Amino acid sequence: MVHLAAQLLCLSVLVLLQVPEDALCARFLVILPTHVKSHFIMLEPYLKALIARQHELVVVSHFPQKEPVAHYTDISLEDSLTTSSSETGLSIEHVQSLKNPLLNAINLAKYGTHTCETVLSHPSVKKLIVSDEKFDVVVNEIFHTDCFLPFAYKFKAISIGISTSVLMPWANDRFGNPDNPSYIPNIFTPHSDQMNFIERIENVLTSVLYKIIYHFFSDCPTQQLVREHFGQDIPDLAELAMNTSLLLVNSHFSLNAPRPLVPSVVEIGGLHIPKPKPLPQHLQEYLDGAAHGVIYFSLGSMLQSKTLPDDKRDAFLQAFSELPHHILWKWEADELPGQPKNVLTEKWCPQSDILRHPNVLVFLSHGGLLGALEAAYYGVPVVGIPFYGDQRTNLANLGARGMAIQLQYNNITKQSVLDALHTVLYQPRYLENARRTSHIFRDRPQSALDTAVFWTEYVIRHGGAPHLQSAAVKLAWYQYLLIDVLTLMLGSVLISLLAVRKLIRVLLSSKKVPKEKDKQR
Ligand SMILES: *[C@@H]1O[C@H](CO)[C@@H](O)[C@H](O)[C@H]1NC(C)=O
Ligand SMILES: *[C@@H]1O[C@H](CO)[C@@H](O)[C@H](O)[C@H]1NC(C)=O
Repeated sequence: MVHLAAQLLCLSVLVLLQVPEDALCARFLVILPTHVKSHFIMLEPYLKALIARQHELVVVSHFPQKEPVAHYTDISLEDSLTTSSSETGLSIEHVQSLKNPLLNAINLAKYGTHTCETVLSHPSVKKLIVSDEKFDVVVNEIFHTDCFLPFAYKFKAISIGISTSVLMPWANDRFGNPDNPSYIPNIFTPHSDQMNFIERIENVLTSVLYKIIYHFFSDCPTQQLVREHFGQDIPDLAELAMNTSLLLVNSHFSLNAPRPLVPSVVEIGGLHIPKPKPLPQHLQEYLDGAAHGVIYFSLGSMLQSKTLPDDKRDAFLQAFSELPHHILWKWEADELPGQPKNVLTEKWCPQSDILRHPNVLVFLSHGGLLGALEAAYYGVPVVGIPFYGDQRTNLANLGARGMAIQLQYNNITKQSVLDALHTVLYQPRYLENARRTSHIFRDRPQSALDTAVFWTEYVIRHGGAPHLQSAAVKLAWYQYLLIDVLTLMLGSVLISLLAVRKLIRVLLSSKKVPKEKDKQR
């Protein structure tokens, strides 16, 4: 009934506003359970674009809108977790402990289970589970848990997935998407698509390891939790996963390694990049007034650069004080001890508009994906200090485009900072490659945002678009890898060889008989 009223309202709005009659007025349930601000930043423009197309949204997230937005209803999870790393940020010391790939994989999967448990136990979400609301589409993040797929099943809605990073290893099978580790770098390795023998071994092992750990530490416990909360008759999550109509993934072949994608997996890298906005006046003046150009330094929204150990912080400051450039540093504290004259600190930076400024010559970054995409979009060379997660692979991709070099955290000294900055500042090829990458990145038939909206509405128009589904989804693994066919073929060859051998033997022995007769004569 609510649904019908909403449809009528929507249609009347259409008539009044003379919105194009192709508007679909679908009702979306969007579930963004990850308590990481950059994930929300990445998706917000998509959500706003859906509203602009007259869709109606109910959004479950930790980041409710500050002001009411028409056609947008928040189900806020703000109060669901006692400690919020999104508010306090992550300390450098903490992320240093995430470098071990095995622990990192287990952490991520356990974080998925933890997210599942806390979000499903949230009173508003419990209410939603037993509600008789109607939704046409359920949007889920494909990241560290499949916990919320049953919502699409429950509401008999079309299921859409969003990957705020490049594809997770477990995101491929459900679409039958090719994921050959010989040339497709795993998100958790430090490699681009150019891998030597040893790197390919590492790539294969990482893929297998992460999938196994995901299965045992996220999939299995999640399956249990889901049955507890949604009821025992919920199909297996793996089965629900195969019913995902579309996956929008935050990558683009101009920056990330080119790879084959089935038609239901669509790259929308760059979607989050906002329309240019004027900078705050003091920043505009600071950037305009930099006769030698600007170095922009930010470790992103989660990592707190104020938690850098004193020696590393001083290494940066000493290096900066020897440069003629202006340095803009996203620094979260009021005071920066030993701050040189040419350094300006800001607690929060409008990063995209800063990188757009022509005086910005280098982006000193941790290699987060959003920043990497913005650097590619605006053609700014990068000096990257990778810490955890996908940062190594993002920097490897920028490096493969010739627009970035890396500085290892353990090797940070005044000299290594200066060496890295000098390399990128004074070797023109970094800027040239960054400019070229930018041209390629922007050269598309449709903007990333329009692409995302188009494919979303496409699967709605075609009732979930089952025609997009690759037949690979339905094959058993040994069929997919053609092991059954190969077994038959090898078997046939083997049997033929044996038969030929037998035949030769028979022929030889039948020849022998007359020979013996010859001897007798
Ligand atoms: C798959 O999705 C369609 C709608 O797109 C729905 O009708 C069907 O019941 C779903 N099947 C499962 C197993 O979720
Ligand atoms: C450490 O920094 C020095 C000075 O810039 C550089 O020569 C060296 O190659 C770096 N080592 C590593 C492992 O990156």
